Amino acid sequence: MTQTLTLRRPDDWHLHLRDGAVLEAVLPETARDFARAIIMPNLVPPVVTGKDATAYRDRILAALPEGSDFTPLMTLYLTEDTDPADVVTAHQSGLITAVKLYPAGATTNSASGVRNMDKVRPVLESMADHGVPLCMHGEVTDADIDIFDREAVFIDRVLDPLRRALPELKVIMEHITTAQAVGYVKAANKNLAATITTHHLVINRNHLLVGGIRPHYYCLPVAKREEHRQALRAFATSGDKRVFLGTDSAPHVDATKETGCGCAGCFTATNTLSILAHVFEDEGALDQLEAFASLNGAAYYGLHPNAAKITLTRHPDPVSYPEKITCPAGPITVFDPGFPLYWRASGPPSSG
Ligand code: NCD
Ligand code: ZN
Repeated sequence: MTQTLTLRRPDDWHLHLRDGAVLEAVLPETARDFARAIIMPNLVPPVVTGKDATAYRDRILAALPEGSDFTPLMTLYLTEDTDPADVVTAHQSGLITAVKLYPAGATTNSASGVRNMDKVRPVLESMADHGVPLCMHGEVTDADIDIFDREAVFIDRVLDPLRRALPELKVIMEHITTAQAVGYVKAANKNLAATITTHHLVINRNHLLVGGIRPHYYCLPVAKREEHRQALRAFATSGDKRVFLGTDSAPHVDATKETGCGCAGCFTATNTLSILAHVFEDEGALDQLEAFASLNGAAYYGLHPNAAKITLTRHPDPVSYPEKITCPAGPITVFDPGFPLYWRASGPPSSG
């Protein structure tokens, strides 16, 4: 008997689409399975103002495959010069869904990010007053903090003081990678949630470094020890409403990853749902996949879940995905989970 699993259509609460040729190449990979996604604003130059977000949204809509009803949920890149009034207007008009905080230098294209949290206090206060959610890249960037500790230190030095100062601010700690973050989110009030990526449920730091360096497993926050991956898997599959999918699918053409100083980012849009079904099945929690991928994020952002449904089918033999996506800018390697996949979304989404 063929096993199937029907879910409300999922959303991706953290996605990099880039621009130009890469946008055109990767957008169909997400739009095929997902109804909506929070679009990261770390373009070069970044999406800083409402005007920038309008223009970027229009470029995304223009790049959508014919007939797609995918909705990009736009964000603004928080800088020390961000105008609180522009943020509130963009949110109230429905143009943006959230604002993104990158500590300066934390990750790909974060040079315009925040150096001094005091400088952004007025805009964060205004966001708290007007219900604008803050998405955070939760890593400190101090040179003396070991890269594997940067998330845990961020909680103590930045996130906890911020939440005490502005308890009404709705925060999403994105792409969490540590047991410390899991514990912190679980202990918090209703104004903190977390996203977890597909790849952090699959790889630990050994996958990245043992037997040779694997540039396509390098992302930020960097994968941690196995005990942390286990904590992420337990949290993601628990049904807890404060955790949901943000793939952080982050395309980089191969030439910029397979080099002496490679970019951070794993490209998972193509096979994310197959991998997630595999992970949830492994954990004996297929019944929680819908909460993680389709329900919890929408509820946290105050949006309706999607009415349309998607059916995943478990095939008797492994299903295959392309190793790379082709793009005029160069090939983009699809994340390899390192095990065969059996689940695949089948057919077009059905409504109702
Ligand atoms: C992201 C990117 O490439 O834009 N890279 C990554 O490793 N996740 C940026 C980010 O989300 O940190
Ligand atoms: Zn990201």
